[in-house]
Amino acid sequence: MAGQIGVAAAPFTFVSHVLGVVAAVLVLFWCIHFRGGLAFEAVNKNLIFNLHPVFMLIGFIVIGGEAIISYKSLPLSKEVKKLIHLILHATAIVLGIVGIWAAFKFHNDSGIVNLYSLHSWVGIGTISLYGIQWIYGFLTFFYPGGAAGLRRSSLPWHVLFGLFVYVLAVATAELGFLEKLTFLQSGGLAKYGSEAFLVNFTALVVILFGAFVVISAVAPAHVEDPRGYVPIA
Ligand code: HEM
Ligand code: HEM
Repeated sequence: MAGQIGVAAAPFTFVSHVLGVVAAVLVLFWCIHFRGGLAFEAVNKNLIFNLHPVFMLIGFIVIGGEAIISYKSLPLSKEVKKLIHLILHATAIVLGIVGIWAAFKFHNDSGIVNLYSLHSWVGIGTISLYGIQWIYGFLTFFYPGGAAGLRRSSLPWHVLFGLFVYVLAVATAELGFLEKLTFLQSGGLAKYGSEAFLVNFTALVVILFGAFVVISAVAPAHVEDPRGYVPIA
């Protein structure tokens, strides 16, 4: 994808790291300070639900985003970066599955039906496509590895489909924040209160993180001669 944007990717990857850390801190602060904490087993089923945003955001979105920008953010050889890319994506999928399991467990333990919302449908679609993308990437680029021609023709599709699935993941998280905050506000949470502000602000940081990840992937690693500019003297 090199050469389309005349600005190198590195500064965008730095901003992505910062936004990822901020998003992680905000979602933990929300679920622990405002929502009572996290638990795999509890009488208060809301604590099981709280695992869902934490695992989806830190595990799936932030680690998945770091996996995408690893080709641009790390000063390592192509082979090492490929290994890091595939391991971080595998980690994102596993943590995403744990997060979705937590949402199902919360529903089942509380007698709430499953898969009734747009958020949940897009969410299942996203994690399924993400899994398919990982398997195809693994088989083609890692082991056993496709023939040179197949790898060459697959790569642009891998990048395009990878970015599409990632944008879908960010959109799913946005729907999730909106849905949860709407539930809480219908239950009496102050519409302009500090918690509502925190949730909306977290969701904004997630949009910015997603945008910087995509820009990092699309921007070239090096800019040889930006716009062919030649100084006069
Ligand atoms: C890419 C990230 C995410 C994915 C793939 C995802 C996926 C899912 C899925 C599949 C369910 C259905 C569980 C069931 O039916 O038992 C669900 C439920 C839920 N999720 Fe997420 N989620 C994500 C992020 C978030 C975030 C960040 C929040 C913010 C709080 C959130 C809030 C909710 C809520 C409130 C429910 C229960 C209501 C419902 O089923 O729609 N999700 N999620
Ligand atoms: C769901 C999982 C995956 C997603 C979402 C994904 C996404 C991406 C994206 C967006 C890029 C472009 C990065 C850039 O140009 O800066 C990329 C590049 C690449 N990915 Fe993946 N990927 C996934 C899994 C894998 C796996 C398992 C492999 C196996 C080794 C792999 C191998 C590669 C390779 C070789 C590149 C090319 C890097 C270059 O431009 O030189 N990917 N991937």
